[in-house]
Parts: sequence; C-alpha cells; structure tokens
Amino acid sequence: MSLVDLKKVLQPAYEGKYAIGAFNVISVDFLEAIIKAAEAKKTPIILNTAEVHMQYLDIELIAAAIKEAANRTKLDVVWHLDHGLSFESVAKAIKSGFSSVMFDGSHLSFEENIRQTKEIVKMSHAAGVTVEAELGAVGGSEEGDLISVASKAMYTNIEQAREFVEETKIDALAVAIGNSHGKYKGDPVLDFELLSDLKDITRIPLVLHGGSGISTEGFHKAIDLGISKINFYTGMSQQALTTLKNELNKEESEGYNDFPEIMTKVKLSVQEIVEEQIEIFRNRK
Ligand code: 13P
Ligand code: ZN
Repeated sequence: MSLVDLKKVLQPAYEGKYAIGAFNVISVDFLEAIIKAAEAKKTPIILNTAEVHMQYLDIELIAAAIKEAANRTKLDVVWHLDHGLSFESVAKAIKSGFSSVMFDGSHLSFEENIRQTKEIVKMSHAAGVTVEAELGAVGGSEEGDLISVASKAMYTNIEQAREFVEETKIDALAVAIGNSHGKYKGDPVLDFELLSDLKDITRIPLVLHGGSGISTEGFHKAIDLGISKINFYTGMSQQALTTLKNELNKEESEGYNDFPEIMTKVKLSVQEIVEEQIEIFRNRK
C-alpha cells in the first residue's frame, strides 16, 4: 500500500478508544524493526521522522526506504514529520513525500502559533497532507535520552485549545499535561482532569508526546480520556544502546562477533520494545 494520512489511522482509534504508536525512524535498522513489530501485531503504524534528527539522516534515502516499506506491507503506514519547526521545513517535508506533518509552534506566542499553524494547515491540506500541532509545551528535547521535567506553566490551556482547534482546522492536537520528552525525573504525573476537559472541548484526536517512561496504567487512562496517538522514542534508543553495550561486553569476554550479527540483535531488541508498546496502546483494559 502507499502511505496514508493521519486521519485514516487516528479516526478509528479515536472512535474505538485505542491509540496508534508513533515511533521514530532514525535509521533503516529502526525502520525495519518498527515495521516488523507492526506486522507482528497487525496494526497501522506511524513512522515519525523528527526535524532534529535530520542532521543524522539523508532524508531522500530514508524517504525511498520508507515508501518501499509502505508498498510492501498491507498495513496502513503514515510517514509523519515530528516536531517540524517552520513553514519551510514543513514544505520541504511535503516535497519529500511525508503523508502527514507536525508543526511545533510551542515556542511561539499563542497568537503567532495560531497564525503560523493556520498557514501550514492551508498548505498541507491542499497537498492532501494532515497536520498535528502543539499547544502549551511538552518539556524536554525530542532528541531523547536527557532527563527532563514538565512545567505546569506550560500545560495546555483549555480556552486557548478551543480557539486554536477552531481557528486552525488541525487534524490532531499535541497536549502538554505533565508529559515530557526523554527520561522522566521520578514518576510522570499526568493531569487527567485537564486531559478529559481537553477531549470534551477539542473533539479531535489528541496526541501524547514523551511516551517513554509512562506506566501501562497511565497510558490506559490517557487513552480512555482521548489520547489516540502516542509518541515513543527514548525507550527504543535506550533499548538499542543497552543491547549494543551487552553485545560489546560479551565480545570482550568471549571473542569476536561480526558487526551485522550485533546489529541484528539490536534490531530485534528494538522490535521487541515496539511490540510491547503496541500491545499496551491497543489493549487498554
Ligand atoms: P520520548 O522520546 O520521551 O518517548 O518522546 C517521543 C516524542 O514525543 C517524539 O516526538
Ligand atoms: Zn515529541
């Protein structure tokens, strides 16, 4: 199948009270691991490519690999720009073949976030590409791994959310409710009352960033209260590093291992964590 947009996979999730996982592709190995996990679990999948990771990637090469992977599978695959930071980068992503984009205007004033998001929605929808935007600010950096904390002052405001969704015509809204990127300092505390109000007011699929570190119970509650897309990256990155470290330690004590052999193990460990998360996101009871 060719790539599909966000609406195609999020609308049924929104109505059926489950969430679709959005996992970051930072290499062809990660791409293979995520697709294999989705195949094993027979679920639609969102492949995130973050603007901050593009410094490590040849986007045209990755585009070709992602399109090939989508063509080979019967599953619905969304290729989604993660945390696009400007009109120009979103335009470039659309040109490269992304089927969906996120514009992250969380660093802007409310008015400027509305203005820029509106323009991006116009351009993207004209190209048949769906748009996720962020209101309030999810803590930390989406590059993953660093410890971060969510600031209450940056939580999504209910009244602003109503106006933002109405004005911009976005397809999904990323909310800040205590979630943050990278490793959490202590257990994450999500504001479920705020989430429930945001669900009632926006009536569009809501997105939870900073998925790594949230408990199964936390995910299930969030899904019951309107979360339809969950972004997950740091956990995969950590898993890959741990497997790599273990394999290299083994190599020191037991002798030579071929690099592809080690990478196969890394890939498998990433696939395993993606499968675990998919299972948690779908089966909320
Ligand atoms: P984590 O890296 O904390 O899982 O967050 C992922 C994310 O939100 C990507 O946009
Ligand atoms: Zn994010």
